[in-house]
Order: sequence, then C-alpha cells, then structure tokens
Amino acid sequence: MSTESRIVIDLDVPGPTISRHLYGHFAEHLGRCVYDGFYVGESSSLPNEGGIRLDVVDALRALNIPNLRWPGGCFADEYHWMNGIGPLADRPGMVNTNWGNVVENNHFGTHEFMALCELLGAEPYVNGNVGSGTVQEMSDWVEYLTRDGDSPMVRLRRANGRDEAWKVPYWGIGNEAWGCGGNLSAEAYVELARRYATFCKDHDGNKLYRIAAGASDHDLAWTEALMKAISSLGGEPRNLFQAVSVHYYTVLGTWEHKGSATDFDLDDYYRTMIKAQDIDRVLTGHSTVMDAYDPQRRIGLVLDEWGTWWDVEPGTNPGFLYQQNALRDALVASLHFDVFHRHAERLVMANIAQTVNVLQAMLLTDDTGGLVLTPTYHVFEMNKGHHDATSVPVHLVDRQAPYELDGKNLELLSASASVKGDHALVSITNLDPAASAEVVLDLRGATIRDHRGRLLTAPELQAHNSMADPQAVVPVALTGIAEDDRGLRLTLPPHSFATIDLDL
Ligand code: AHR
Repeated sequence: MSTESRIVIDLDVPGPTISRHLYGHFAEHLGRCVYDGFYVGESSSLPNEGGIRLDVVDALRALNIPNLRWPGGCFADEYHWMNGIGPLADRPGMVNTNWGNVVENNHFGTHEFMALCELLGAEPYVNGNVGSGTVQEMSDWVEYLTRDGDSPMVRLRRANGRDEAWKVPYWGIGNEAWGCGGNLSAEAYVELARRYATFCKDHDGNKLYRIAAGASDHDLAWTEALMKAISSLGGEPRNLFQAVSVHYYTVLGTWEHKGSATDFDLDDYYRTMIKAQDIDRVLTGHSTVMDAYDPQRRIGLVLDEWGTWWDVEPGTNPGFLYQQNALRDALVASLHFDVFHRHAERLVMANIAQTVNVLQAMLLTDDTGGLVLTPTYHVFEMNKGHHDATSVPVHLVDRQAPYELDGKNLELLSASASVKGDHALVSITNLDPAASAEVVLDLRGATIRDHRGRLLTAPELQAHNSMADPQAVVPVALTGIAEDDRGLRLTLPPHSFATIDLDL
C-alpha cells in the first residue's frame, strides 16, 4: 500500500536560525548515566581518560553535541558541589534520594564534568541547587568555575589543579521547583530564584545565560508567573534571567504502568505518536504566554528535558530508568525535531533526557566494554546538518487524511528543512506503520545541483539495537530518488525517517 503527498519547500524564504543548541544533551547522576556510562574511573580496564570512557566520547563526538546539562534533574537540587572537588578519597558521599537511594561517592564532580565537556567539544550547562542549597553556595560555584585573577574560589580551584577559568555560559537556577526541586508555588520560586540569579555574577569574560526552572507540559500558569516576575524587574528584562525552561516527556498510561519500550501494539504506537506530536501545542502555549510579556522574543524558551519514558527493562533497578530504544523512539525524536525547527525563533535550546543508559538514550553500555548506538542516536546524527542552519518554510499539501484515535488526530507525514550556504537538508518522517509514502519534493527558489538521501527504518516498529544485534536499526542510503519537473520524487517505506541532502 502507498499514499502520495507533495511537500513544498521554499528554499529562498529564510526563517529563524535553528540553534545547534536544540540538539543539546542531559547527563544526570541517575542510574548508569554518569557512573558506568560516561565515567568508569581511572582504574577501569576500559580505555579512559581521567576515568571518562573514551569509546563513549568517540561515539558522541560524531553527534557534535552542542551543550551538556549536568548534574540533574532532580539530583541537582540535592547536589552540593564542594563535595565533588579535591582528591577522590577525601570526597564525602551522599545519598541519591531521587534515584535508587544509592550512595553517590562524588567521584564525578566539577573538574570531571568540565573535562568531559572538553572531550566532547560541548558547552557546559550547569544546573544549580536551589532546593537544598544556598545562594552563597551557588554564587561560589560560579566564581570557582569562571573567575580569573585572584579570589578565594580561584585559589581553591588552583589548589585542585586548574589554573585557568572555564567558560560556563548556561546556568540553571534550580529544576522542577514545583516538584522535586522544592515543591514550591510559582510565586515562592520566583522570589527565591531572583535572589539566586542576582548573586550568580558574570565574572571576567564569562557571560551567564541564566535559565529559570520552568513548567511541565501544559502548565502555562507557571510560565506566566515567571514571565510576570521577569518583566516586572524593570529595565532590560534579560538582566537577571535570559530564559525559562519547560519539560515535556512522551509518556503513556500512568507513571506506574508506562508500557514497555519494545513490547507494544499498534494502538500503543499511535498513542505514542499523538503524545509526541503534542510537543507542538506545548511549545505554542508557552511561547504565546511569553509573547504577551516579551514581544521582541528576547527571553529564550529552553526545553531542557524531553524524550520517551517507558517502564524500566525487566530485572533492572526501578530507580535507574534504564530502557531500551526502538525504531518507535527514533520516530518520536524526528517528529520533535521538525516541531523544534518550526519554533526556532523562541525555542533556543532543547536537551534530550538522557545521553547514556537512561530514558531515551543515545548509547547503551555495559561494564564489559559493550556499547550500542540506539536508533535515536542515528536521528541526531542524520539531522546534524540543521545545526545553526536557516529554517525555511515547508508546506505539506495533497496529503492523506490524518489517522484518528481516541478523538485525536495524527498527521502521518512530518517534515522540516533548512539551508546553510550552498546546502539544504530536508528531514521527512513517514509515521504510517503500514503504507509507504510517495513524496514529491516541490523545491522552490533554488536550483538543485545534486542530492543524496539517507534512510532509517526496520521491518518492525519494535526493532532495536542490542549488544547481541547492534546493527538492527542503522541508516542506509535512500535509493530511487528521481528527478521530477517540480524537484524530486521519492518513496519512504512505512515507519521510516529520511534525510535528503541537497547541493544548491
Ligand atoms: O530525567 C529524569 C527526571 O525527570 C529529572 O531528574 C527530573 O527533572 C524529571 O522529572
């Protein structure tokens, strides 16, 4: 079975820049993301630099990770950074009450995180502790990381082996303050956050981009309270906060029964995609509230947690959030990116939760040196050409009727496009689980000199990569792209994601 659609792309109508930061990442002290994921310790038999696993770094370098958020999440609001500096043997432990109640030894701390960012070529996004920390503690952390010259914190940093100040642009003022970050009301949080933001200073050449802890899902009242507080500060509204965040997970069912990552039926698939597609309504809702207070769009919206959230894999610690990652997850990711590209004027950053071994991960590892690239990894890699490119309008015309389930509609084709220099990249997702999509790409406003296509699909939506079968879902060349008097004609198999690279 197949359907025919036309996608019109205006290559000469520049829209907003798609910040590379929309492809950001998140690494929390949670389960096996940091420990046994990124960090195996210097005594490990696995190749490492300062304890950081080098095959993990190599695999992630191919994604050009623009920024990495750390140390949480919920963990951020119980993390005391001073316990994570100095000789490992002297670092006190703590209980990670949010994630498995395990003892955290603080061996991965500030210096290790900054070394990881340097290895990855990623900009650091540090999330500070508002919930159980102090204003002084956060202010000292900023000074420790970013100040040059001489000061108490600079001396401490130097005593710990780092002479030069780092650049740390992105700073989170707490996390999920309505929940694990303190169970605060929006009004209480903004009063508190203003004090924290005031004492997080710009030292020397380091200009902080302070991100206020934002809402979840459709909680527009929280964003409204933040925006009211930010814009009532007087003068330039970007003085204290440069952005507000929002979190949105693709989760089905209840928190107790979210369903399996790999064992699901067709209705589960459709419901997943309907839920994923709702990211558009979430971003539109928060952006609309922000527009009322900041019509010039100077305050950024940061989706610093997103992705699928399934039941943990059988037999694993429920507090570790370890899940498999199937072709379905990859399509959730490609759908999100199309939406992100359309919101690129207000949406300045997004961070997938989380990079290694937790939730919708890029990589799954084991302690014997196994490493698997997930289907989601491949979407990030195939979409790299959109980083810092100019988005261009995409119009889906002559398309088939949406699929309807539970009174909700799902568009079965999704696409976005961008232009950078003499290249354009078109991303297309065919969400139809049974029918191929015959697509005419009606390319207006430029001459196409050459084209190459790549395809990510598998016989089953449940297909996934594992240690035993790491290549079950990998990108291949998309063949059969034909020239048409309007542009190009191509066929996307059922449940597939494709990128078309155009030389202009
Ligand atoms: O990503 C896992 C958790 O989800 C984060 O710690 C928290 O911010 C969110 O609820």
